[in-house]
Amino acid sequence: MSQIICHISDLHLPIEKKPTLLQLFNKRIFGFLNHTSKRKNIFKLENLDLIFNDINKSNDIHTVLTGDIVNLSLEDEFSSASQLLDHHFKEKALSVIPGNHDAYIKVDYKRSMSYLEKYFNKQNNSIDQEPFPYLKVINDIAIIGLSSAINSPPLMCWGKMSSKQINTLENILKSINGNNYFTIILIHHPVHKYGFMNLKGLLNRKQLLETITKYNINLVLHGHLHREVYNFIKIKDKFVPCIGAPSSSKMLNEKISYLQYKIWKKDDKWNFSVYRRLYDNSDKKFKTQDITKSTINV
Ligand SMILES: [Fe+2]
Repeated sequence: MSQIICHISDLHLPIEKKPTLLQLFNKRIFGFLNHTSKRKNIFKLENLDLIFNDINKSNDIHTVLTGDIVNLSLEDEFSSASQLLDHHFKEKALSVIPGNHDAYIKVDYKRSMSYLEKYFNKQNNSIDQEPFPYLKVINDIAIIGLSSAINSPPLMCWGKMSSKQINTLENILKSINGNNYFTIILIHHPVHKYGFMNLKGLLNRKQLLETITKYNINLVLHGHLHREVYNFIKIKDKFVPCIGAPSSSKMLNEKISYLQYKIWKKDDKWNFSVYRRLYDNSDKKFKTQDITKSTINV
């Protein structure tokens, strides 16, 4: 039996309700000007709808969304995002983590990501407490959702994980060690360096890598770069793929795409393939491209 995981990212959903002056009296003013002058013409709901409809043609698929769901972290944006995702996904068919745009300024959890918490696996019942990292196990596939989302100064977009979160992650990895799960880590920022002096990347990437490379991880999935990216980390003589998905609402050269991973166990050994579902605006169709050989088998 195989499991298909779809990977979408960086939705940057349109801002439906104009923010008040008070809401913009901080870093948001930069993001709002950028959104109204440029981003709203790039990240489009109509592109996302095509992808959602394509995903929903099949049953038994699980989808992971690796952050940057909104733009300015306004409560109205999270409320709209929740309605949109609820419309397209059953609760158990989607796993969500936040990106830097989902913590654009310092916001309360209950006024932001809590709107999407049906897509986490929240262990505690407190409405104030953040649920990351979380663990979901689907057909022996362990999905661990992390949060690298922190607010940063204007024009910056770095990420960082708290030490508390890394400790909890280690406890989760210890608890499933020996279960022979196919283990996937979801994190918005790549675990490799990004930007000048890594200033667009994960600031404490080394601390995270020190922890995860002690355990049996099979795949790291991220967003943030708005394009397909393939890297590897070395864990116990194995090269583990780290794959970045393109923005699911952004059409580039008349094309949009998302990634699919087919995961299956044979003779107690895990296998997986990588596919691109590519929509070409000229023929208005999705095609599947098997990119396993050119990406993870290199
Ligand atoms: Fe991002």
